[in-house]
Amino acid sequence: MPQASTFRQYSYYAGWFIRSKLGMKRPLVNTMIIHYACNLRCKHCAIAANADQIPEGNSLTFDAASREMKAEFDKGAKILFFEGGEPTIWKDGERGLGDLIAEGRRIGYYVIGYTTNGTGRIFEESDVLSISLDGPREVHDQIRGPGVYDQLMANLEKTDHPNIFANMVVMKPNLDKIRETAEIVKANGKIRGLMLNFLTPPPYDITLSHEEKVQVVNDALQWRKQKLPILNTERALKELLIEDYSEKCPYWVSSFTLPDGSKHGGCPMQGTDSCKNCGFDAVREYRLILAGNVQTITKMSRRFALSKR
Ligand SMILES: C[S@@+](CC[C@H](N)C(=O)[O-])C[C@H]1O[C@@H](n2cnc3c(N)ncnc32)[C@H](O)[C@@H]1O
Ligand code: SF4
Repeated sequence: MPQASTFRQYSYYAGWFIRSKLGMKRPLVNTMIIHYACNLRCKHCAIAANADQIPEGNSLTFDAASREMKAEFDKGAKILFFEGGEPTIWKDGERGLGDLIAEGRRIGYYVIGYTTNGTGRIFEESDVLSISLDGPREVHDQIRGPGVYDQLMANLEKTDHPNIFANMVVMKPNLDKIRETAEIVKANGKIRGLMLNFLTPPPYDITLSHEEKVQVVNDALQWRKQKLPILNTERALKELLIEDYSEKCPYWVSSFTLPDGSKHGGCPMQGTDSCKNCGFDAVREYRLILAGNVQTITKMSRRFALSKR
């Protein structure tokens, strides 16, 4: 199926926005955590920390994924994101992530993307790629493992994909490397910008204190003015300082399917201690979109919702 026209997408998003104002809370994004398997064991990742307890074979099959994609599409989700674990190593027999992307396209999703540690192949057919970059080489590798930075950069060299964004999780090991990371992104012709997030604990020992977060946000606001490619909107950066975001979080904007096939009408972390300490920028941007914040609507729709391969 060809990608929906920009006009059709705009009309749909506008209708979704109006319906949400009238109290109709339908997902716009479908996040599919297709498996927990991963080739890395990053310091800050709860999936890595619990890798031993995850039963083998805890992975969506192609057929189950297809069913869930269709069900969420019919409920209203038009943006599809694959998550893991590491989505690029997902397999069901001969099928891989490329087949899931093709299936999402066949169903009619407007925008399809995935998040990756960047060590595997790049799926060029995806509309958006979100790569994880947690610092310059030494710090990225300290968090993610030896050689990971060079592998990521070598893979970026090989692609001309136009919509690659970087995600950084700010925590104690990379606290003083944010500016340097933004400069790396600026100098790298393949990455369009850097989205800053705070670590969502656990682990608590490398989570920033509130004072450290205030400093990061103040610095980031300055760096944006100096034209460093920080993608968070100004308001969202400030809202990252609201420590307990659980009351404000529009958790229903994305539906979630987990590897065991269970479904959540919103973020699976809702109601947990992690939820109270959520450091994800995206939920702030979602809230601001729903609040009608023009800067957020314009920037986020240009970057994600209307992105085309
Ligand atoms: C769970 S990973 C899955 C995709 C892929 N394996 C990757 O690393 O990009 C998705 C994103 O969540 C981030 N992440 C992992 N643990 C986190 C935590 N405790 N708090 C905030 N973000 C976290 C990762 O850095 C990554 O950018
Ligand atoms: S690569 Fe992604 S899923 Fe794997 S351990 Fe690191 S953050 Fe977790």
